Parts: sequence; structure tokens; C-alpha cells
Amino acid sequence: MNRFVKWESPSNIALVKYWGKHNVQLPKNPSISFTLSISKSITSVELIPKANKKVEFYFDNILNVEFGLRIEKYLSNISGELPFLNDYSFVVKSTNTFPHSAGIASSASAFSALAMCLVDLDCELNKNEFSLKKASNLARLGSGSACRSVYGGISIWGKTQDIENSANEYAIPLNNEIHSVFQTYHDDIIIIDSDKKSVSSSAGHKLMDTNPYSTEKYNQSYINTKLLYTALKDGNISEFIRIVELEALSLHSMMMVSNPSFILIKPETINIINKLREFRNDTNIPICFTLDAGPNVHILYPDENKKEVQKFIMSDINKFRVIKDCVGKGPLKL
Ligand code: DP6
Repeated sequence: MNRFVKWESPSNIALVKYWGKHNVQLPKNPSISFTLSISKSITSVELIPKANKKVEFYFDNILNVEFGLRIEKYLSNISGELPFLNDYSFVVKSTNTFPHSAGIASSASAFSALAMCLVDLDCELNKNEFSLKKASNLARLGSGSACRSVYGGISIWGKTQDIENSANEYAIPLNNEIHSVFQTYHDDIIIIDSDKKSVSSSAGHKLMDTNPYSTEKYNQSYINTKLLYTALKDGNISEFIRIVELEALSLHSMMMVSNPSFILIKPETINIINKLREFRNDTNIPICFTLDAGPNVHILYPDENKKEVQKFIMSDINKFRVIKDCVGKGPLKL
């Protein structure tokens, strides 16, 4: 019987953003994220005897040649790390728990799930111990942000002297040190637009190379990493809010001042941010927002404020589809 493994792995939402890279997918500054719970990819890999076609890839049970070729290239890139990849062909099947059109970045969940499958197969074939560090490193080579998804809770990716054992090649989990309030945080994702992004993340990263403000942005994110790490340990929610919103707006301001410039947020994005800030000022309920490389608004808040915040979303932001997610436990073998 052919060897077969199956893993699910979640998406993540960055609190300090990775935006700008060099060499082989190494980040220009450290980033910190919440691993999510509901939004995930479920991926299986079957090893078959070597055939003409290296990879057959099915998304939602439909053959997807374009993505199959991307995976083929990825496998060839990482075959130095996993030599068994040279000895087989592969049938890869994947599906997402969130709708394809939801505008949620799927590369983090997709590549972390695939990397978990590949490291698992390597362990089975070569009797190695499973290494999450190795899975994180391989996930990074597929998509940078994917390396943070192999751990549950909160992860950091990128070397900084302020966090012991942090590295550019892989992410590490931060959970033991983190205050309990952040371990059950919510992320309600307001889906404003589900169209394909007008500028891909890869193109966005590239534009940072010529952005006149990029050095300042990288410095700011180093400082924000340090300050956020302290806030996460101390349970300091007001500092968390200040840094997370600054990082989100700083990311989008980089897009607006790159050459050529581009804008991914929409008028509704700004409307929701204004409503959210007004609600926070009026009620003192500590909600805040962050943004991905797109117009959707991620509303972050502590579990103890769930009732009031969900009521606010239902009454004031009721035009949009909402995915109610929260901090999750990381990948799972199925
Ligand atoms: C704005 O990880 O999608 O979500 O490494 O080119 O695959 P590639 O980029 P990707 O970039 C994510 C950018 C971001 C911020 C973040 O997740 O840190």
C-alpha cells in the first residue's frame, strides 16, 4: 500500500507584520502572529512510485494543474532538506474550511499543512523524530507567513536580540510566557471584498526593496516586536491595541508610498475602523483591528468581551459576512 498522510493546519493573523524579504524567503524584520482555529487547510499527501508526472494536485477534489506545478517547484526547492522527495511521485489533495472567495490568505495554512505532511513522511521513511522547527523552516520556503502556523497560540518569526532563540529560518512558539488573556483572543474577520487581490503579496514584498521608507518601517517593526512581546507577557491590552493598529496602518501606508503605489483597503475598511474606534471610546471595551494584505478587517478582542463585541458587530457592521475565528491550537494529524 502507498504511504499516505493527512494534516490540517490553520491560517494565522500577523500582529507585527512581515512585509519585505531578502535571499531565500528571509524576513527583513521579525513578525508575531496569532495562529487561528477555524480557518484552516486540510491536506493529504500520497507517495506513489515515480511517474512521469511528479505532482498531481487536487483542490476540492478537482485537478488543479497550475497549483500542481507550483508544488512541484516547491518540492524541487526543498529536496536538499528532504532527499526522499527525489524518489517518488506525489498525489496531493487539499481543501480549505473557509470559502475560497473569502479573501483570507490561504498560503499560510496551505504551505504549513503541506510541510507537516512532508516532515511526517520523512519521519516514517527515515525513522526521524518529528521536528516542528524543520516543518516551520520548510513551510517558510513555500510562503513566509506559513512558518508561523505550525505552532498553536502565538509565534514569532525573525531574529531579534530581544527574544531568545528567535531565528530567520523558522518561527518559534511564545506560548509559555504569554498572559492568559491573549491565549483565548478572538478574531472576527469582516469580509469586505472577496475578489482576487490586485497586487499579490510577493509583488508587495518586492516593492519594499525600492520603497524610500522601508528602512524606517523595518526599524519600527523591530521596536514593535519588542514592545508587543512585553505587552503580551504583561497582559497589557491597551499597549497591545496601540501596537497592533499601528502595525496594520503602517503596512498599508507602505503600499501607498511604494513606487508604483497601490491601495488595497476600501472605503468600507475605513468606515469599519472608524466605527470600531468610536465604539471603543464610548464603551471602553478593548477591541481593536488589524489588516492583512487586503481590505478585510480582523476585529480582535478578549474572550470576556465576546457578548458585547458580537452585538456591536451584528448591529453596526451587519452588511458583511463574518468569519468568527479565535486563537487556536495549531496543526493536527488526521
Ligand atoms: C501582510 O507570507 O503571503 O500577511 O512569503 O511571498 O508567500 P510570501 O508572502 P506572505 O506575506 C504575508 C504578508 C502579510 C503579513 C504577515 O502575515 O506577516
